[in-house]
Amino acid sequence: MMSTKDPLDPNSYFIRSFGCQMNVHDSEHIAGVLESAGYAPAPDAALAGLIVFNTCSVRQSAEDRVWGNLGSLGHKESGLPLVAVCGCMAERFGVEILRRAPAVNLVFGLDALDRLPGLLDRCADARMCDTGRFDSMDYEGLASKRGDHARAWVPVSHGCDNYCSYCVVPYVRGGHRSREPREIISEVQRLTADGVIEVTLLGQNVNAYGCDLAEEVDFAGLLARVAAVPGIMRVKFETSHPRDLSDDLLEVMARTPELCEYLHLPVQAGSDSVLEAMNRGYGRDYYLERVQRAREVVPGLVLSTDIMVGFPGESEKDFRDTVRLVEEVRFDSAYIFIYSRREETPAAKMEGELPAEVRSSRFAELSGVQNGITASSLEALEGRVLEVLVEGCARKGDLSRGRTRGNLVVLLPRSAAPAGALIDVRVVGAGRHALRGELVRITRHP
Ligand code: 5AD
Ligand code: SF4
Repeated sequence: MMSTKDPLDPNSYFIRSFGCQMNVHDSEHIAGVLESAGYAPAPDAALAGLIVFNTCSVRQSAEDRVWGNLGSLGHKESGLPLVAVCGCMAERFGVEILRRAPAVNLVFGLDALDRLPGLLDRCADARMCDTGRFDSMDYEGLASKRGDHARAWVPVSHGCDNYCSYCVVPYVRGGHRSREPREIISEVQRLTADGVIEVTLLGQNVNAYGCDLAEEVDFAGLLARVAAVPGIMRVKFETSHPRDLSDDLLEVMARTPELCEYLHLPVQAGSDSVLEAMNRGYGRDYYLERVQRAREVVPGLVLSTDIMVGFPGESEKDFRDTVRLVEEVRFDSAYIFIYSRREETPAAKMEGELPAEVRSSRFAELSGVQNGITASSLEALEGRVLEVLVEGCARKGDLSRGRTRGNLVVLLPRSAAPAGALIDVRVVGAGRHALRGELVRITRHP
């Protein structure tokens, strides 16, 4: 298998995750499966005997980064590192990845995760592709290696049935499949036994949870059950689809102390005609009504969103409607994206694709507007005392980072409290994207 001159340890691995939190979570399973099979983490991709790329296809730019990375591995006739590709690009391109990227040994789907060690043993000699069965994906009982002490992510569903006209997710991740409530609850119980106090429930559209299950359960009901697991102190969830955001859910959030005041509610656009072309299933006024209701029912709600600019046919007036909506709602934070054409999707066949300059100038304008709003919503918290779960070291400076119940990032002196501590923090300042805080008291040691 490996040449004797090879300096790389064949049993060391490195995972590069692209894209959303679901991928980060899937990578925890990949790491768990690899470590159960005797692999150990390498400190750096350059030192690893196995490199796994867990990829994203939502936008072209994410795919381009992976193609670039695979290309720079060059042409490797034999030996190490073994290179494996999984995630959305694996489902989207399958065997074409083996053709286009000579360094790749294995393309696998996440349904193949339990067979991964066997596939890795064989793919050094014969390059392989094992994808395309996401509907039979079964995570239950899979090993996992978590990167965080006190926080964890728990998928409640996989895939999506919404077919927003620009989005590749239903094609690469399959249709919406809810996990059984008892599987979710027992996973949360195992996590609490391991020291976890905060879980974030994940799904492409968590509000559709349960619609495909025999048991009569909806997302509000599931949330109440997760929050009641002994040891759980904070529950967050994403992503909510505005169309399916029920009053029931908001009321459960308001009356359950463990449920955090955080809602990620992608609006995508502020113009009715663009929303319709996007197949979002709601209009501007409906979205505004949902936000108003959410803010009334859940005091102190922190609201974030996703917005796309430059959708085919988006007129100057449509774009102004989006800017106006952003100014009206005043999101605490927003992820703004430039529309990226995905060939499988209906939007790729729509007329009125906009020139790149128009898309990027709209992106710049909207980002500027939102940055001002984000900064002032952070500044408004100065002087307040907020509960923060400490995550660990910040990337820069001698600082720790943590998050509030509203999912806002807080930076504080590293000596203040260890990772995994729950602390009260006084907000002493606000940067562009994070708060600065000082310790008031530690309420729970890790
Ligand atoms: N182009 C640009 N952004 C997209 N998103 C989804 N598909 C595309 C696309 N084709 C954005 C949406 C979604 C977020 C995760 O990514 O805003 O909410
Ligand atoms: Fe894509 Fe729409 Fe499903 Fe989100 S809700 S994953 S944007 S199809």
